[in-house]
Formats: sequence, structure tokens, C-alpha cells
Amino acid sequence: MAPFTILDSDGPYASSKFIIALLVLVAYFIFGVVRNLFFHPLSKIPGPPAWSASRLPFIWSLLRGTLIHDVEKLHRKYGPVLRIAPDEVTFAGEEAYQDIFQIRPDGKQFLKDAVWWETQPGLPETILSAINPDAHSHIRKIFAPAFTPRALRDQEPILQRYINLLVERLRDQIVVGPERKSARVDLVPWLNFTTFDIIGDLGFGDSFDCLQNSRYHPWTKLLFSSVKAATWVASARFYPLVEFLLMKCIPPSLMKTQTDHYNRIANKVQQRLNFEVQRPDILSDVLKDGKETLPIGEVNSTFMILTTGGSETTATLVSGTLNYLVQCPQKLSKLTREIRSRFQNDSEITLDALRDLPYLNAVINEGFRMCPPVPWVLPRRVPEGGGAVCGVWLPERTPVSIQAYTMSRDPTYFHSPSSFEPERWLPEASTNPQSPFFKDRRGAVQPFSVGPRNCLGQHIAMAEIRLMLSKLVRTFDFEVIEEAKVKWEDLRVFLLLEKKPIEVNIKLSEVA
Ligand code: HEM
Repeated sequence: MAPFTILDSDGPYASSKFIIALLVLVAYFIFGVVRNLFFHPLSKIPGPPAWSASRLPFIWSLLRGTLIHDVEKLHRKYGPVLRIAPDEVTFAGEEAYQDIFQIRPDGKQFLKDAVWWETQPGLPETILSAINPDAHSHIRKIFAPAFTPRALRDQEPILQRYINLLVERLRDQIVVGPERKSARVDLVPWLNFTTFDIIGDLGFGDSFDCLQNSRYHPWTKLLFSSVKAATWVASARFYPLVEFLLMKCIPPSLMKTQTDHYNRIANKVQQRLNFEVQRPDILSDVLKDGKETLPIGEVNSTFMILTTGGSETTATLVSGTLNYLVQCPQKLSKLTREIRSRFQNDSEITLDALRDLPYLNAVINEGFRMCPPVPWVLPRRVPEGGGAVCGVWLPERTPVSIQAYTMSRDPTYFHSPSSFEPERWLPEASTNPQSPFFKDRRGAVQPFSVGPRNCLGQHIAMAEIRLMLSKLVRTFDFEVIEEAKVKWEDLRVFLLLEKKPIEVNIKLSEVA
């Protein structure tokens, strides 16, 4: 039998058709590779040939959750401007924040890339997904009053209540007997419970009761898995046929779960609309300013985003920072001394009092550098007429992105980039030329991004982080468990970071 004979009713004629089709496909692929490597407008931009020739290495890395790590290695080899797909360029240069995320002098913006942000048919837009600048600024204007430093003053008692409850719950883990005992705890769920409860209460005046019940709300699981699923959908969008097939193959049960999730949020919003709360929440601010102007679907969807974006990120930062602190006992005791000497009891710990604590704030900044809660690359498109990023001119519609993770670990940007060194953020580090951190490029750490799409919830996030860290460190002595140490660099990223348990020993402190 001839090697290529296909056994079907049309015999050798069908097999030659198959071979021709195969040859056409191979020729098409080779033509594409040659064009991408040598004749594409981006062909002069440095990058590994396999990634420049085809989108597949990018997708493979994305689906394995290792994209930011793989790209970091590539930046080290090829420099700060990197072609990571035939039509896409990514940047590990501080100036890229200004060039990509701020509005240009001619008024044009690099808009969010639809591959990542386009809303699925039938779902209303959200503050995060709206691509059109007018649609986005309309939603943002309505939500903004709930996120000002002034609004935060009214929200502080809610933050205090849940963070006190967190401390109480962790105390319950320690059996206090004649001799002081310790407990082994995984910090990740406790911190997630806290931030999730806070956003429920701040958002709709109704907690999710995770701390009360010491367990995850069923939604949280759904939120984590939907972020992972979004990675698959985005990967498929690079190939319209694959996207079409994927959408056809999504099991009805999964679609139902998504609809149920949306309906639950919508019900929660509706329940909240049916009663007056005694104290302001985010929804009351939205209603006050935008009653007639924002369709209820967009309010619901934006609340759906807030429950994930407003809880998972903050919990990641506190988990990551505590993970580094327990592994650097000297830094931990420096922070402990600052907090315990400043506050005689817990009720003195207020947002006003915390704002200016130098070491606490330095620790938080270093936490943001070492474990960015949004390590994702914030993809955008070059506007009409083309544009320059980090001095490189790019044709219009080119997808571009930023590599915060790479910059944070760049030895040309930071002295001892792999060490947890809060000292680099103390005021003297930037004024004293003798400091080893004098030349650090601190502006390269922008955890909340910049420009008109930066994080709306950053004041709330900073408030939660300062309160959580200071109250925890005042009440407990933390100790590393050698065999349970987590290396942050090993964690995978699916748009957000996939956290692993962070187990530590806690003991009641002498001042608690
Ligand atoms: C440490 C915690 C947080 C970090 C690092 C963080 C980071 C970010 C980043 C980088 C963006 C820009 C996303 C993009 O350009 O694609 C963003 C957007 C946003 N964040 Fe946060 N976030 C945090 C906490 C929060 C909290 C607590 C809330 C709400 C309570 C919140 C609400 C939002 C909203 C509404 C947007 C969309 C803004 C817009 O497009 O106008 N975030 N966040």
C-alpha cells in the first residue's frame, strides 16, 4: 500500500485531495512564518524567533500560567522592548507607563485591547471592560464619589470591624494555656475572608459572612475559576475559528453557573435597593449621583467586578508581604517595634495614625514590588495613526503591554532586586547618595497603574492593607515554618495570581 493512501470510498482521488490540502496548509504556515520573521512591520523589534513567527508559544506560556516568568527571562536576553508575538510588543521600561496609560497631548489614548476585554454577547459592560473612553468615563464618574479619601473616612469603621474580627478569629486558633501556645495557620483563606467580607459590606451593606462562618462563600470559588476560564477564552480569541468552536463547546452547565452568578449579584443589588441603609455604602453613592443615568445591568456587572478586583488583590498583597516578612525576621522585628512602640492598644490604630509610619509604608511598597497583586500586563492597542512607546514607533492597532514583574526584578532598576528590602523606600534612600538604594528606579513600581484607567479602589486598598498588617503584627508574633516556605516566584498567574497556602506559626504577642 502506498504510504499516503487514505482508505475511503473515493480511493486514491480523495487521498490526493487530502495531500494537496495538507500541502496548502503547510505552505500557508511557512509563508506566514517567513512574512512574520522578515517582512512584518515589527520584524526589526528584538524577540525570540519562535515567538516572533507564531502566536503559539505565547498561548502555550499563557495557558501554563508562566507567561510573566517566561517573558522576564526573554527581556533579560533581548532587552526592554520585546516582540512576544508576530503582531505584539511588550515593554519593561519605566517610561512605558507614561507612554501607554496616560492620555497623549493630542488627546488620543491607547485603548484596552478587545481580545482581553470585549464583553461576552448579552452581558452588560463594566467599569473594567468598557473600551470606549466615553462609555468608560461615564461609568467611572458615577462610581468615583464612593472611592474618594473623604468617602473612606465614613468607611473606616467598617474596615476596622472586619479586621478586628480577623484578629479575633486568629486568636481563636491559639489555645492559650498556662504556657503560651502557638498555632499553625494558613493565612491565605483568612485574609481572603476578610477582604471579601469588607467588599460585601462596603458595596451592598451586607457582608458575605466568611469570617463569621470561618469558611469561603460559594461565590469565591466561582470567582477564582472564572478568572482561569477567562485565560482560555482570551487564548481562543486569537483564532476566530477556535473561539467559535470553543463557544459552541462550552457546557450548558458552565453557562448556567455564570448566569446564576450574575443573577445572584443582581438579586443582592436589588435587595439592597429595597431598603435604606443606616450608613453609606458604595451603592448609595452610585444611586445618589447616577440614579437616572446608569442602566441597572451596568451597575450589577460593575459590582460583580468589584467583588473580585476589590478583594482578591488586597488579600494577595498582604499574604505576599507577610510571606516575605516571616522569611526575613530582622525586617519583621523592625516593623513590629515600630507598630508596638507607637500604639499602646488596638483602638489607637486608625488610618490617620498609620498614614505616616515610615517603616510600615516602606514594607508595603516593597510588598508591591516583590508580589504585585496584578502581575498581569494590562494589554492595550496603539491608537489611530500609530504611536511611540519607550522611543519605539509602532503602527496603529499594534497590541502593547507592560511587564511590571520584569521591571521589579531588574538589576539595572533595583539594587539587590531579589531581596526583600523595605529600606529602599525609606525617605533617606532617595536623598542620601551613600545609600545602596539611592539609584533605585522607584517610579517603575506602579501597582495601581496610572492614567484614566488606574485603580479606582486604591485608597480603600491601602487602608485595608495598613490596618491588616499593623493589627496583625501588634497582636501576634509570626514565625516561619521552614518546611512550608513559599517561593513567590514559583506561583502561577492566570490574569491574577494563583496563591498557594502560606502557613506560619502565630503566638499571642506580649502586648496583646
Ligand atoms: C492591592 C490591591 C489592588 C491593586 C494592586 C489593584 C490594581 C488595579 C489595577 C492595576 C487596575 C488597572 C487595570 C487595567 O488597566 O486593566 C485596577 C483597576 C480597578 N480597580 Fe483595583 N486594585 C486593587 C484593589 C482594588 C480595590 C480594593 C477596589 C475596589 C474596592 C478596586 C477597584 C478597581 C476598579 C473599579 C478598577 C477599574 C478602574 C477603571 O477602569 O476605571 N481595586 N486595579
